[in-house]
Amino acid sequence: MLSDKSAEGSQQNSTPIREKVKQFVQNEVKPCKGDVILDLGCGTGAVSAYLAELVGQEGKVLGVDPDKQRLKVAQESYKGIKNLSFVEGSTSNFPGMDSGTYDIIYSYGVLHWVQNKEEAFTNMFRGLKPAGKIAAVYGEHLPTFFVRGFRELNAENWDRLLDMFKFKSMAEIERICAAAGFSILKSCHIQSPLLEFESADHLRSFFWSATNGVFDRQLATDTRLARFYDLYSTEGSGKIRCPPEENDLVSVLIAVKPDKA
Ligand SMILES: C[S@@+](CC[C@H](N)C(=O)[O-])C[C@H]1O[C@@H](n2cnc3c(N)ncnc32)[C@H](O)[C@@H]1O
Repeated sequence: MLSDKSAEGSQQNSTPIREKVKQFVQNEVKPCKGDVILDLGCGTGAVSAYLAELVGQEGKVLGVDPDKQRLKVAQESYKGIKNLSFVEGSTSNFPGMDSGTYDIIYSYGVLHWVQNKEEAFTNMFRGLKPAGKIAAVYGEHLPTFFVRGFRELNAENWDRLLDMFKFKSMAEIERICAAAGFSILKSCHIQSPLLEFESADHLRSFFWSATNGVFDRQLATDTRLARFYDLYSTEGSGKIRCPPEENDLVSVLIAVKPDKA
């Protein structure tokens, strides 16, 4: 089980990713005042809080995540926000799943962790109001930064690390989504986000946290890190800047539940 500190590790890939996510929310999720939104796989809750701001006091946001420690960080970080709550849940089981509750189900960086994607899409369909939509970003493959990080820093764990990811192609995701009853509005690739880390420890914590502790920080020695840094710019500041390679893409899916009324 992760410690609180490791859950915080997942917050350490700072500004550029948050800005990119904000742009995605504004341009693709497009929440309206009064919307009821489920953030499915909310992690430590920063985007749930942003969504709560956008839907206003007449709206509501629920963040769910199966990871208790991340949830605890989310609950503690945003406890003053009245229209925002966090509970334990997953694509298999979340509040309102059977009752057509949500205007939007937002899910960022989650689907590639989910083994049973058919179940996930069926449950999202059931949880949405008619004309409600899902807005998801997911990976089809491991970005170069992760491949290098796992190879250079944790080669001994390579098989276990790879085994954690449940990648499916965009075509397969579209098929599963349509089979659950959705009409697909958009399915496309966008560039993976730039990642930046304040220090070597932040980088170690990020990999550790992102892999639920499977990445072993002890194996990521300074010698190995020095080799890894050679691949990335440190801008003379000690900050590690890891831009995506040209072929590092993530997939966007926007789909709507038909309005049968
Ligand atoms: C890369 S993090 C993204 C967190 C958050 N959406 C964000 O953008 O910061 C992936 C999250 O998915 C959660 N997760 C893994 N399997 C899940 C499932 N079956 N249902 C819901 N969330 C899941 C993990 O616990 C983790 O918090």
